[in-house]
Amino acid sequence: MADLLIENLSEVATPIGSTSCAGVHQRSIHRLEASVVLCRAGSISFVGTLADLERREGPEALTCLPRLDGGGGTLVPGFVDPHTHLPWAGSREAEFAQRLAGKTYLEIAAAGGGILSTVSATRAASEEDLCTSMLGRLGHMLRHGTTTAEAKSGYGLSLADELKQLRAIRSASETQAVDLVPTLLAAHEVPPEHRDRRSAYLDLICKEIVPAVAEQQLARFCDVFCEDGVFSPDESRRVLEAGASHGLAPRLHADEFADSGGAELAAELGALSADHLMAVSDAGIEAMADTGVTAVLLPGTSFFLMKHTYAPARRLIDAGVPVALATDCNPGSSYSESMPMILTLSVFELGLSIEESLTAATLNAACCLGLGEEIGSIEEGKRADLVLLDAPNLLHLGYHYGVNPVRVVIKNGQVAHRAY
Ligand code: NIG
Ligand code: FE
Repeated sequence: MADLLIENLSEVATPIGSTSCAGVHQRSIHRLEASVVLCRAGSISFVGTLADLERREGPEALTCLPRLDGGGGTLVPGFVDPHTHLPWAGSREAEFAQRLAGKTYLEIAAAGGGILSTVSATRAASEEDLCTSMLGRLGHMLRHGTTTAEAKSGYGLSLADELKQLRAIRSASETQAVDLVPTLLAAHEVPPEHRDRRSAYLDLICKEIVPAVAEQQLARFCDVFCEDGVFSPDESRRVLEAGASHGLAPRLHADEFADSGGAELAAELGALSADHLMAVSDAGIEAMADTGVTAVLLPGTSFFLMKHTYAPARRLIDAGVPVALATDCNPGSSYSESMPMILTLSVFELGLSIEESLTAATLNAACCLGLGEEIGSIEEGKRADLVLLDAPNLLHLGYHYGVNPVRVVIKNGQVAHRAY
């Protein structure tokens, strides 16, 4: 694997460390001016001035290195998107039109639309079709600077269809640059054939789906949609404990529309994250802070559902909860692959600073996927997953909105995408 020297950068901006940053630490990122970054064998081997690198390597050693001209741009860690529902078939644009005309997401779901409409389309699709449509979405992700993403099942809701989605995630991960971390979300909704026998569906998840997924090593995490009207905290606990007993670490959709006890359950189980949290209670925030559960915030969902209600990001940070950001990319409640869009919403609607937002979209996101030792910051020894922004400094990531700021994406030390 060839080396790569990235030079002519106006700024290298990155959080530091391999554990998540909470409270004031979330905004204490490193900003190095006039630095170069050397990638060697897929990892970051040097960050600092050219003069220091020449001292370390000897000036001759640098003359024959392949170089990337940073063009006066800003280098940040590759974005990590820790919550997506990437493998789906079909489209929900008709529901989108209904929402534009005034219907709510929950009204549409109650009328038989919502998640279940994507479940029927996904059940009818082949594994190959799921993989192909995912590759299109992954192309958007890469072009917007995402180098690692979590991907959930949850539109299959049967043993065969959950396995089909997870196998499609595995194939998609192997065929393009963005690394995918798979999550089993069989408890996303109760499927129609179990509507009057929900405990039988919970049995199916715990006794058949979880063991099969673990046996085939198709997922790293187990997730549940813990929400009033979907799965209760007791039902969620049962699923997450079954997952944990098979080595699938727990994470949750928690308190998205109503305070449903999801944050408290995440704390009780030591989950890696509680996600959404638009309606989280003060007690839930406190429980998360006490146990170090990461809050994965999805402002694209508030935006796309036109809720005008965003998760209490400032209160979470002030309480000491590490905050991460994700797209929630899915066809119903947040159809976007763009982490720069999520950073825009973080600054304008969640009220996070650009530094807090960068940490949330890189290191904290990596840590809540258990990858903090490997990715999420620009430091010697970490994997060389980097994004060159067409921006003279980090602030432009928020200031210049509505454009794609990504000029080059480097994955494992190699150029994986170049916009121009
Ligand atoms: O995270 N909240 C539950 N699941 C998704 C929505 C999925 C869908 O509408 O298809 C979410 O918003
Ligand atoms: Fe989600």
